[in-house]
Amino acid sequence: MTYTAKEYAGLIGMEGFSETLLKNHFTLYQGYVTNTNKVLETLDQMLKEGKTATPEFAELKRRLGWEFNGMRLHEFYFENLGGKEPLNPGGSLASKRAADFGGVDGWEKDFRGVGAMRGIGWAVLYQDSTNGRLINFWVNEHDTAHPAGCTPILIMDVFEHAFMLDYGLKRADYIEAFFKNVNWKAAEARLK
Ligand SMILES: [Fe+2]
Repeated sequence: MTYTAKEYAGLIGMEGFSETLLKNHFTLYQGYVTNTNKVLETLDQMLKEGKTATPEFAELKRRLGWEFNGMRLHEFYFENLGGKEPLNPGGSLASKRAADFGGVDGWEKDFRGVGAMRGIGWAVLYQDSTNGRLINFWVNEHDTAHPAGCTPILIMDVFEHAFMLDYGLKRADYIEAFFKNVNWKAAEARLK
């Protein structure tokens, strides 16, 4: 079973995101889908050929986490963009955020702080499935520091390719644009 790249052309026209930046980003995402398929196919072949004890197998297995998460995180990211309405203040996400971050503003301050961290990666609001707690995480590149057993609720790409074309080094301006376009209904629907 292979993965197929999803279509996100409907996001073109979002305030604060140029068409060129978005189209480049979609192309980059499609590369992760292609490579995820390639890596899975090659690993499958190596299994059939009895090569699981080889260093090539080990390195490719490591690579799989990077390519697969590169694919999946972009899907979560694009799917939580394109929104036009603010978060429902009476909904479960708003009340959980306020409860877990010491008030209404705490979550956003924390999430923006994560997004502004130096380095390439992702700011992710996760929900711990064991107790429902919301925690903002920094995911390095695509594959380091995902919390086990947690559900991603809101994802923000902070690799340079997500903003440099439009904002240069002004990552804070990109974060501002991201917040103007969050699809809160999509994010809230991920909450358990
Ligand atoms: Fe990206």
